Amino acid sequence: MPDPLPFVIITHALPAEWLAALEGHCTWLAGPPAAAQSGGDLVPELVERLPQADGLISLLTIRVNEDLLSQAPRLRVVSNMAVGVDNVDLAACTQRGIPVGHTPGVLTEATADLSMALILAASRRLPEAASDAKAGHWSTWDPTGWLGIDLHKTVLGIAGMGKIGQAVAARAFGFGMRLIYNDITPMPDIEERLGATFVSFEDLLAQSDILTLHLPLTEDTRGLLNAQAFQRMKTSAILVNAARGTIVETAALQQALQEGWIRAAALDVTDPEPLPPDHPLYTLPNCLIVPHIGSATHQTRRRMAELACVNLLSGLSGERLPYCANPQVYRQA
Ligand code: GLV
Repeated sequence: MPDPLPFVIITHALPAEWLAALEGHCTWLAGPPAAAQSGGDLVPELVERLPQADGLISLLTIRVNEDLLSQAPRLRVVSNMAVGVDNVDLAACTQRGIPVGHTPGVLTEATADLSMALILAASRRLPEAASDAKAGHWSTWDPTGWLGIDLHKTVLGIAGMGKIGQAVAARAFGFGMRLIYNDITPMPDIEERLGATFVSFEDLLAQSDILTLHLPLTEDTRGLLNAQAFQRMKTSAILVNAARGTIVETAALQQALQEGWIRAAALDVTDPEPLPPDHPLYTLPNCLIVPHIGSATHQTRRRMAELACVNLLSGLSGERLPYCANPQVYRQA
């Protein structure tokens, strides 16, 4: 009898063509479409099958924690279809010898495009102006109406100069912006290529006309943008967040926007996420919110799923994952 194919749980339904690489290598059971499942836990039909699971493909909305892992004793690989892995308890996976895959690189350009769209939309007040026109209030060309800010020569502060931060910098450079950034250490090659200047985090807050966040969510970055931070920013500043919602303290942001500590915010991510429909942030004219769509293009989401399959299949066959978020799992082995 040939060995049965490994069995994989996919936390949400994904288009069949995105999963084509799995055919013939494993069998799988997928959960409901994401739109039908907003909570952070696996649906009961999938929980029931955890004891048989050799592999897991997860979306960032599912908590892959000790509770889940303890029900999946055969699990050999977790493959997260996201670059961020803050939904996965990496330490618990490492301790169990389970490599965790993620999808860096393939979503860099799409996320940088969306960040730039947020920068442009907030600086030129597009959502407000569009709804005003739609509401029938466009009466004339008003020389003092709908004034925004130029991007040219404006200081863009980039918090986190990883792949996405650099891709945003390249775009902003093309718009003639002045670039400053903060990361763990200065990056001389970037400074040379894009004319970006390394500054301390304090100076980044104080000098940015537009501050864009491209940091991973860690214990160090959680709540980094708090009331104190907002008070250090220019009152004319715009905050853009396409990283993780919990890097920003929502109550402090609301106060900053309501009391004019900063000019505006444009958010692809929020805390909580999803932001409830009655949340006061939606009522603020200077706050633009889109529903975590940084990587949402046909091409990019497909590439993310394909990379998640590559990581999964490597893990199932005992090979090193090409994109592993907990490489220490190999050192310990
Ligand atoms: C999206 O937010 C991702 O981490 O891929």
